[in-house]
Amino acid sequence: MIGDRLENKAAFVTGAGRGIGQAIAYKMAREGAAVALAEIDLESAQIAAEELLSQGYRALAIQTDITREDQVQAAVSQVLEQFGQIDILVNNAGKRFHYDATTLTEADWDDAMDVDVKGAWLCCKHILPSMIAAKSGSIINISSIHARLTVRNHFPYAAAKSALVGMTRNLALDYAPYNIRVNAICPGWVRTPLVQQWFDQQADPKASEERVVSFQPLQRLGTPEEIANFVAFVASDEASFITGAELMIDGGLSIVFAV
Ligand SMILES: NC(=O)c1ccc[n+]([C@@H]2O[C@H](COP(=O)([O-])OP(=O)(O)OC[C@H]3O[C@@H](n4cnc5c(N)ncnc54)[C@H](O)[C@@H]3O)[C@@H](O)[C@H]2O)c1
Repeated sequence: MIGDRLENKAAFVTGAGRGIGQAIAYKMAREGAAVALAEIDLESAQIAAEELLSQGYRALAIQTDITREDQVQAAVSQVLEQFGQIDILVNNAGKRFHYDATTLTEADWDDAMDVDVKGAWLCCKHILPSMIAAKSGSIINISSIHARLTVRNHFPYAAAKSALVGMTRNLALDYAPYNIRVNAICPGWVRTPLVQQWFDQQADPKASEERVVSFQPLQRLGTPEEIANFVAFVASDEASFITGAELMIDGGLSIVFAV
């Protein structure tokens, strides 16, 4: 669907080369925003940006490893130079970690926290000053249903995604006086390359997928576009009284008592 919800706004979306991030970039562009696609995998972001540009939307692909402060700082400067402003930050880039706490290495722990928590903070750190100057902004942190409920052997994914929700509250409170809203969105199971990789790693991928679908109240996984529609609303001025919230979008999964 095409609209004008984000007309005259500029968005910075991390991990926008594929999956949920790509769907968010597409949706925001179709709602009128200029979109910066910040990606560790530049090629994927370039393909997505080219598609948007070919349809007449404003897009910019930038190679960014969000765990590296120098790269985040350079990417933010480039976007501010090109678009003149950043009104929306979507901290979407993330990885899914599923280990056991007794076998997890220190490097794996650091990797999880660096991508899922530190990277989001670094983007906030370098984008907030321009939002403060503009006295306006919307930051959306893509957390997960794992911030509330979790499953076995997903250490430390739940810890990282819970930390992101905690960070959302800190920032929402600190920057509310500048009319900057900060929210966390917690998706349930969404069909993306990340989830497909997880299915593929299971002993019987097809049976594993059928089992996951069977305990979804809506009897299906969500789509990246369904998450993107919600993110675009929360980013827009229509959501002007929503801040500090932990917003579930999980097809009802979090109301299920047992599976
Ligand atoms: N798919 C789901 O079911 C689901 C559910 C809940 C939450 N999430 C969260 O949504 C977000 C997107 O998930 P997805 O399923 O689309 O994942 P995905 O793996 O399909 O896409 C993630 C993107 O982030 C990029 N990325 C990874 N590390 C990066 C880094 N250091 N710097 C910049 N970019 C980096 C990847 O290159 C990739 O393009 C993640 O934060 C994930 O934890 C996903």
